[in-house]
Amino acid sequence: MRYGYFDNDRREYVVTRPDTPLPWINYLGSEAYFGIISNTAGGYSFYRDARLRRLTRYRYNNAPLDLGGRYIYLRDDESGEFWSPSWQPTQRDLDAYSCRHGLGYSTIASGFRGIRAETCYFVPLGENLEIWRVRVTNERPAPANLSLFSSVEFCLWEALEDNTNFQRNYSIGQVEIEDGVIYHKSEYRERRNHFAYFACSEPLAGFDTQRDAFLGPYRGWDRPIVVERGKATDSEAHGWQPMGSHHVRLALAAGETREVVFVLGYSENPKDRKFDPPGSQRIDKRTVKPVIAKYLDSAVVAAAFQSLRDYWTDLLGTLQVETGNEHVDRMVNIWNAYQCMVTFNMSRSASLFESGIGRGMGFRDSNQDLLGFVHMIPARARERILDIAATQLPTGGAYHQYQPLTKRGNNEVGSGFNDDPAWLVLGVAAYVKETGDEGILDEPVPYDNAPGSERPLYEHLQRSLRYTLDRLGPHGLPLIGRADWNDCLNLNCFSDTPGESFQTTENKAGGVAESVFIGGLFVLAAQEMKALALRRGDETEAGLCHDSAAVMADVVETAGWDGAWFRRAYDFFGKVVGSSENEEGQIFIEPQGMCILAGIGLDNGLAAKALASVRERLATPHGIVLQQPAYTYYHRELGEISTYPQGYKENAGIFCHTNPWLMIAEAMAGNGDGALDYYMRINPSAREEISDIHRCEPYVYAQMIAGKDAPTHGEAKNSWLTGTAAWNFVAISQWILGIRPEHDGLRIDPCVPAEWGDFKVTRRFRGATYLITVRKPVGATGRVANLLVDGRAVAGNVAQLPTKPGQVIDVEAHYR
Ligand code: GLC
Ligand code: GLC
Repeated sequence: MRYGYFDNDRREYVVTRPDTPLPWINYLGSEAYFGIISNTAGGYSFYRDARLRRLTRYRYNNAPLDLGGRYIYLRDDESGEFWSPSWQPTQRDLDAYSCRHGLGYSTIASGFRGIRAETCYFVPLGENLEIWRVRVTNERPAPANLSLFSSVEFCLWEALEDNTNFQRNYSIGQVEIEDGVIYHKSEYRERRNHFAYFACSEPLAGFDTQRDAFLGPYRGWDRPIVVERGKATDSEAHGWQPMGSHHVRLALAAGETREVVFVLGYSENPKDRKFDPPGSQRIDKRTVKPVIAKYLDSAVVAAAFQSLRDYWTDLLGTLQVETGNEHVDRMVNIWNAYQCMVTFNMSRSASLFESGIGRGMGFRDSNQDLLGFVHMIPARARERILDIAATQLPTGGAYHQYQPLTKRGNNEVGSGFNDDPAWLVLGVAAYVKETGDEGILDEPVPYDNAPGSERPLYEHLQRSLRYTLDRLGPHGLPLIGRADWNDCLNLNCFSDTPGESFQTTENKAGGVAESVFIGGLFVLAAQEMKALALRRGDETEAGLCHDSAAVMADVVETAGWDGAWFRRAYDFFGKVVGSSENEEGQIFIEPQGMCILAGIGLDNGLAAKALASVRERLATPHGIVLQQPAYTYYHRELGEISTYPQGYKENAGIFCHTNPWLMIAEAMAGNGDGALDYYMRINPSAREEISDIHRCEPYVYAQMIAGKDAPTHGEAKNSWLTGTAAWNFVAISQWILGIRPEHDGLRIDPCVPAEWGDFKVTRRFRGATYLITVRKPVGATGRVANLLVDGRAVAGNVAQLPTKPGQVIDVEAHYR
């Protein structure tokens, strides 16, 4: 069952009923000011950091699930009837409803008794504000007298504090109202130099800034007393819950449309220029007033919206494909790329499942996210790499997380996730291949942000690999530390205390738990490092990488091989994990994917065996589960993985992040049918028709789909902020369609299903545009053997680098 449809031409998903199985959200903003918005206008906004600079309130895990938002109310001032044009929060039945989630904006339109309302929410480029452009049309044959109310509840900036410290919070709320603009300035008098504002383009009939006055005691957002009575109270907040609401009266002739613009924004003043007049306690508004005035103008709003559309057209233009498979085309051309940009901006901070107050930016997550957006915004990828690397420790180890606002490593979580450093090598290699900017390797970058400790980024990468080699276990495999990619495989933590963190608790000394997965990851990273070293003429490093990768690959093929698949690990006591010797958790997906990605076993049959085992034991119609059999008991020696009920999350859920590794592995092994088959199983667009089972948004990947051991097999959770986005993008674009940036050119190496024929790709790369046509005979299963580049025959499958900027390069790829 579907709850909407894709509008590919407008690059929108159109939700056609408000009661989706879960709130289906979208993101506003792409630079510093952000928001999440659901299909019924729920959500919140923040400046840079969802925890430290939260502008508006949202209460997670509410009933209904999605409450708190950018709500507008309409009231028929003749009948007294009122409704929410976004359905929530009044939930009055609407005669018509649609929510168009587009790239960086959402438009919610509805009709109720002849009154049509359409609200477009977006953040203009380069601004720290959001626009709500409301158009109200009277479709009745007679004039209509309406009241329009806006509403937001202000958050007292620090979202965790806002949710917990009520003895203080109920006394500190402060606002200013000037020229109809509502300014939220809690704590501005003292240490903050930022404030929020909420403005309206129309003359006001009134306003409210105290929540209790607006809603009325014992009432909720579904029936605010002010809306019911049709009259604002001009309340001024002193403590309690500051909010913003404008009341506008609209007298509309039959057929008339009126546009009303609301602007909600964030502003900072220099610390020594906070007040006007100086010495007073009133906000200095001289900088912000022109900005407000500008965006209350409809023409400016229209132009800003068009710029936003153009921005996305340009970004997505980096890669466009025409394959004839609508799910591939739609995800690659629009939604997967968009999701990669969102994970770039948000890391794992703010979604319907991430409260914005938990994690900062993950070291491994951010490096992997990079793989999905580096081609669209290389300059920002560069900046991100340098930020991440600056949190690396002198040992080569890494803080597991860092805070986006301070860019400092997070001490509470600390370090010791032994896979972390290797991802930096992969991230940097991807960046250099995309851009050719080898100069980044010479950038001085500090360790642990300590001034004076700057060393070239290249040395950071060397230390990353050394970190693994310095920490090998009894079999010669890398020690796992607190966990590797699988945060929940905690082989050195033995927890009996409820609430204790599996990831940071160290309660048993002397562990020698080893990870086969990190073994594979190391081999992959060392190969990338070798290529970078050779380009710098650093033969010593290249040799070291070559040799240590070869040794590690051997260890993986022996101590890491179980007979029909790669093992997962050795635990604290040296007992194997992920082996036929185990009763539960015999085979895990991660080492099958990562070892084959590193090329291990491709030439001696091990990879083929591992892939067959995955297909037989782990693949389900909804994707590939993480391991089998699921753990039914709590295994203290394995940690968090066995705390999840069977089929969920890391305990045999379909942890989607890992699935593309198998798609890539299938492609590397030459099985185009198998690769695309796995791709289609978790492709959200292909799952749209089972939205009642899948439940999450059909336009983006979710972190997890419940596995075959779960009673809700096929149900997705934790949509949006997941490494699944970047890895699927890599799998489909670079390995299945095979358009792969490399140091010396653009490789055209598709591995697609036999039944496919020709397909086309446009790829911007190193300042040129490659117009690629792959000429594939239907039924062919081989690989591209030669190219015709601008009409000249080229042996092999690498299209060379451009010779001049702006070049258009025509490539025809031919199978043998
Ligand atoms: C989450 C984490 C990621 C981890 C994965 C598996 O997605 O963000 O870092 O690799 O879970 O545990
Ligand atoms: C929990 C989640 C896991 C995530 C981790 C991040 O363990 O289950 O997926 O990676 O938290 O801290």
